[in-house]
Amino acid sequence: MASSTSCKENSLVLGIETSCDETAVAVVEAGLKIRSNVVSSQIPIHQRFGGVVPEVASRQHVKLIVRVLDQALRDADVTLDDISAVAVAYGPGLVGSLLVGISAAKAIALARGVPLIGVSHVLGHVYANLLAHEHLTLPAVCLTVSGGHTDILYVAPDHTYTVIGSTRDDAAGEAFDKVARVLGLGYPGGPRIDEVSRNGNPKSIEFPRPMLDEDNLDFSFSGLKTAVINHVHRLRQLDQELPISDIAASFQQAVVDVLVGKITRAAEAKQVSTVILSGGVASNTQLRRDLKSECERRGLALYYPPPSLCTDNAAMIACAGYFQYVAGRFSSLSLDAVPGLTLRESAMKEERPGKP
Ligand code: KG4
Ligand code: ZN
Repeated sequence: MASSTSCKENSLVLGIETSCDETAVAVVEAGLKIRSNVVSSQIPIHQRFGGVVPEVASRQHVKLIVRVLDQALRDADVTLDDISAVAVAYGPGLVGSLLVGISAAKAIALARGVPLIGVSHVLGHVYANLLAHEHLTLPAVCLTVSGGHTDILYVAPDHTYTVIGSTRDDAAGEAFDKVARVLGLGYPGGPRIDEVSRNGNPKSIEFPRPMLDEDNLDFSFSGLKTAVINHVHRLRQLDQELPISDIAASFQQAVVDVLVGKITRAAEAKQVSTVILSGGVASNTQLRRDLKSECERRGLALYYPPPSLCTDNAAMIACAGYFQYVAGRFSSLSLDAVPGLTLRESAMKEERPGKP
């Protein structure tokens, strides 16, 4: 899939990712070969607050960015002189956090006279699949599910994409995190729910499957989240012990049923035989298991990245940036953070070719 490149084929792209609570820098060669991928997670710092504290996150990025950059260059055995372009996530995310990565990227681009490439963080998640699967063929439909977004994309062979479904309220990962908090499982909630669900019965509580039967590709997770919270409050009022594993497993199954139902419907609607999964929630064991068996049943090829490339990292930003680089889509040095950047918006921006 990645063969339609130009003379920029062997270029090294430096990727920078600071949209939330991971300070990450990577060097990727020719779009697909990871030379280094350094991720410094702030999870232990935010854990005691039960979630990401934006002010703390941006301060940590400021403290860490130069160290992480140095490490990424060292691991790749290169210097800034070898870098052909700098790609940086410019949204969606926390504004203060995004600005740290953007400022670092601008400084490098300006000092070295190399192109600056603003990349949508969500699109980066989609490209993580290219890093992991060399032989992935397009067109495909892609379910991208994270703490901040839940979208279905149709990705054409020339890498252009259309958003064909989105959440109307909470993202799937956000629902995982909030339910985990109510169950006292801590932060980040998704992996904890995944873990405790292994000991639970997913059929024990019949939570709603929002919008599953509606004839569209959109999602809504806020009602499901409220149903779980109400269930927990009812049990607490009755002074009953919480069957945490059963509640977690039943909630997780409801989310997975909706995600699997919608993405397979999208494949059918678009008549494609490739399904891609991306974003932090794509590491969910039940989602991978159920989607795999549903895709097998329907004769669809399913791709998802290894867990290390599902969660936030800079290799995915460098990979997406590389394809913008070969297409001549650059950003100017006035690139700004767009905390609420949607995929529809970034598709429009990327249609406009720019100059380095
Ligand atoms: O992509 P990501 O690292 O950051 C965002 O762009 O949001 O995704 C983080 C989200 C969090 O909501 C986290 O709870 C969820 O992904 N997550 C999971 C799992 N691992 C991470 N959700 C369900 N199951 C998992 N195994
Ligand atoms: Zn993400």
